[in-house]
Amino acid sequence: MTDTTTYDVVIIGGGPGGYNAAIRAGQLGLKAACVEMRGTLGGTCLNVGCMPSKALLHASELFAAAGSEFATLGIEVTPKLNLLQMMKQKADSVGQLTKGIEFLFKKNKVDWVKGRGRIAGAGKVEVTAEDGSVVTLAAKNIVIATGSEPSPLPGVDVDQERIVDSTGALSLPKVPGHLVVIGAGIIGLELGSVWRRLGAKVTVIEYLDRITPGMDAEVAKTFQRTLTKQGFEFRLGAKVTGAKASKKGVSVTFEPVAGGAAETLEADNVLLAIGRRPYTEGLGLETVGVTPDKRGFIETDHFRTSAPGVWAIGDAIHGPMLAHKAEEDGVACIEIIAGKYGHVDYNLVPSVVYTAPEVAWVGKTEEQLKAEGRAYKTGKFPFTANSRAKINHETEGFVKVLADAATDEVLGVHMIGPQVSEMVGEFCVAMTFRAASEDIARTCHPHPTRSEALRQAAMGVEGWTMQA
Ligand code: NAI
Repeated sequence: MTDTTTYDVVIIGGGPGGYNAAIRAGQLGLKAACVEMRGTLGGTCLNVGCMPSKALLHASELFAAAGSEFATLGIEVTPKLNLLQMMKQKADSVGQLTKGIEFLFKKNKVDWVKGRGRIAGAGKVEVTAEDGSVVTLAAKNIVIATGSEPSPLPGVDVDQERIVDSTGALSLPKVPGHLVVIGAGIIGLELGSVWRRLGAKVTVIEYLDRITPGMDAEVAKTFQRTLTKQGFEFRLGAKVTGAKASKKGVSVTFEPVAGGAAETLEADNVLLAIGRRPYTEGLGLETVGVTPDKRGFIETDHFRTSAPGVWAIGDAIHGPMLAHKAEEDGVACIEIIAGKYGHVDYNLVPSVVYTAPEVAWVGKTEEQLKAEGRAYKTGKFPFTANSRAKINHETEGFVKVLADAATDEVLGVHMIGPQVSEMVGEFCVAMTFRAASEDIARTCHPHPTRSEALRQAAMGVEGWTMQA
């Protein structure tokens, strides 16, 4: 069957990249359809990623606080875990969010075409519904927004029961006695934190000799120390060679990367979190002559693929695999399609790890600046010297501002501390306007707030930090 509508744009994928693109297209008066095969909109982020993980991180953080920190505040309680209810509130919030996207589609006159989308030659998208029926959509522009999927590891077969990926780890039916996490990246540490706080012993096996590659090394060191204090065990420089699941549990075998004897750990569950790969297989790209690279990424130039009228955004193309980056891509891509000016500054895509304390940063790390041979100055401020953090007994961590040695332009900010996810945006704005560290240092911040630590760190660049 051929739909008689000719769409200005058909977007394949309804995650943060795709749904933001679709809504922006609707706002700009383009006739838009979004093809999504999942029963709900929102993609990995809303359904099995950012949102459910944050629901569990929030609930488990309060559970852990009730069991320990509350007593410091004079609140004596013995928390009892109701895992079913914790999972239910997560599902309820996720349901409301995915329905919200449906509402926004209706409001902006975007058609949600349910089914699996595949390009069937120039200007054509074939959608196969769950019942097997096929409809072909005519499109002036096709935007690939199919996102990514967890990377597999040979010898470790994900069954979503004993051996889980990020999806399975959001729905374990009971708290594991021992959870082994493969990969000390953001997913491993966030989801590891959830189950650690609910009572699991957590061992993280990481290939590199540090955690969270990409994070400023000084911050990563503090982060590792903090997580270790919380009970995490790290086996760094170790390569997992296999995991064998049985009815009773999983045996995980690993060996030192540098060479040496293999070891085996017994676990109740294993979480495989070694990265994600673009989800670009079976998309009919060959029908328009687009060949993804060896890792599955589609090469683009300002979201244009090598095929006229075919665009790609988000995790399917290069750049940080983050929901908010995909959103930026989606909006910019549609604006270009609509003849406007769409632009994304990839240097200013912030990163956040939603553990406790949180880690957040934007711009260059010290390692990157050194590699570029760029002269920079550093200002640093610890949360132990921030009055609000002290009052709240949340003094772990610090803020570090990196500024150009000659011009004072802020090049990066790195923070580990209480709810720093909510503070990094200040620097995203400042850096978008190419602020100098002095601009932040001379900006009045409300007292007492944790945000004063940002100002104090900026003051530290010129050595006039005041609070101590
Ligand atoms: P990741 O790329 O952040 O970390 C994977 C880790 O696994 C790396 O440290 C790597 O060295 C290690 N590794 C790779 N192969 C290994 C092996 N065979 N044995 C042991 N260790 C091994 O990947 P992750 O955590 O799976 O996240 C995937 C993507 O999702 C990332 O791009 C991440 O930024 C994004 N994400 C972002 C979140 C956020 O912004 N809060 C939350 C969740 C995911």
